[in-house]
Amino acid sequence: MSQQHSAAPAPTSAVSAVEGRPDWWRDAVIYQVYPRSFADGNGDGMGDLEGVRTRLPYLRDLGVDAVWLSPFYASPQADAGYDVADYRAVDPMFGTLLDADALIRDAHALGLRIIVDLVPNHSSDQYEWFKRALAEGPGSPSRDRYHFRPGKGKNGELPPNDWESIFGGPAWTRVTEPDGTPGEWYLHLFAPEQPDFNWEHPAVGDEFRSILRFWLDMGVDGFRIDVAHGMVKAEGLPDLGDHEQLTLLGNDVMPFFDQDGVHDIYREWRLVLDEYSGDRIFVAEAWTPTVERTANYVRPDELHQAFNFQYLATHWDAAELRTVVNRTLDAMRPVGAPATWVLSNHDVTRHATRFANPAGLGTQIRLAGDREVGLRRARAATLLMLALPGSAYVYQGEELGLPDVVDLPDEVRQDPAYFRGAGQDGFRDGCRVPIPWTRTGPSYGFGDGGSWLPQPADWGGLSVEAQTGEPGSTLELYRAALAVRRERADLGAGDAVEWLRAPEGVLAFRRGEFVCVANTTGESVPMPAYGRVLLASGEITEAAGEAKVPADTAVWWSAS
Ligand code: NOJ
Repeated sequence: MSQQHSAAPAPTSAVSAVEGRPDWWRDAVIYQVYPRSFADGNGDGMGDLEGVRTRLPYLRDLGVDAVWLSPFYASPQADAGYDVADYRAVDPMFGTLLDADALIRDAHALGLRIIVDLVPNHSSDQYEWFKRALAEGPGSPSRDRYHFRPGKGKNGELPPNDWESIFGGPAWTRVTEPDGTPGEWYLHLFAPEQPDFNWEHPAVGDEFRSILRFWLDMGVDGFRIDVAHGMVKAEGLPDLGDHEQLTLLGNDVMPFFDQDGVHDIYREWRLVLDEYSGDRIFVAEAWTPTVERTANYVRPDELHQAFNFQYLATHWDAAELRTVVNRTLDAMRPVGAPATWVLSNHDVTRHATRFANPAGLGTQIRLAGDREVGLRRARAATLLMLALPGSAYVYQGEELGLPDVVDLPDEVRQDPAYFRGAGQDGFRDGCRVPIPWTRTGPSYGFGDGGSWLPQPADWGGLSVEAQTGEPGSTLELYRAALAVRRERADLGAGDAVEWLRAPEGVLAFRRGEFVCVANTTGESVPMPAYGRVLLASGEITEAAGEAKVPADTAVWWSAS
């Protein structure tokens, strides 16, 4: 863990330096960097901030508007940095605060915005407050900043309630008190190394408003809020009762998720953010039961965006996709927030692999499936996503069409969910394998010192180098799509789509002069040629005003 001092460098980048439209985020394409797996600047096998900084021109050329970085703060890495020990320091494995400062400045100079991850639901068990809470014992005021409770049972040997950790096992761990006896229990919705803060305690709110200011003064353009639906727990921490917790998760409001009280926190945070210039934003990671409940997070005085996990979880199925698109747009319109669209992130199986498998296996799959079909669908899904109104998220490596690495040997796996048994997130290492930059060389250009998770032998052929300038490559498809999106205001703008008549299994919609068709079936389908083909994820043939759209293919047309 870092001993680095927590003072920010002189905040010379305090004002966000990116020029552009004030509402840039409404249709922004935001690229997720998972720092440990993006690029390794110092050759220790682990990605770092310097690695990200040197690759910023790649991201500028790809055509994204902003970069969201998963946590790089001082952390024992019990959950890959989502266990923060110092919110104002960079972990030495990722660099220093000066590296963060350089990264923010360079990004701004290239016209890219930087969004950092904020982890307010829990800290690391190595965070100063938690260490003090343990040391000062039961009844001490420092325990009130977390959820400490006596256990149930004759000798307090049972957890205080029946909640389970998202990573499996009870959501409570019993501590050994300073006098050596077994004592109170503390709540952790994730790993035991991630104790949940008690947001009823005013010091917690004060601390996080101060952390927000620290990073805003550093010049960041926004925050992705981890477990944004989790901070407030139902009064009295009531038992769930006789329910399968796993089946309720994401389908119901839980006593620990999506409680209405979280919105008071966001109203306060919004006031802080609005003191700063430069149109900075918050995006919520909130796994709510419905998009309608997600919309509550993006009311005008709260956050700006929320990830659309209902969309991420939708199968490659035209009817399902159409329903989720309509429902999302209908839910966001009344609150005036942009819809967001996302297919992959560091917590789910990459969509090239999800779509390679039969529907219904969930978002954690450890099967390769049919890779060719998966890639074809993934490419089509990208064009569909980038044609919808609102903002889109791209997870590093999806622009290379990377599949999940499903055959990682157990001895290299690091996801805490794996060690705790059958939790919700059983297998997340497969989407976290460092990405390939070059055809050959140590770790395919990721860095000179190997890679913290082994890369598959065919990774070189999928590298940035191998795909650059290669007609039809997935990387060139992304570049072309993002270039079109930048040129044409009708792509990300607005809050509606006009559906066009289409055969079963096909989605077709118009947005102004622009038409998108996505064929989700395994057969080629005839469609009217709507104008000039702007881009397609497969080969489109046209004759006599009719176009053949191959299986699992999407196409963009322009009437003008
Ligand atoms: C969501 C993050 O995306 C995930 O990686 C992490 O394990 C949990 N929140 C806990 O912080």
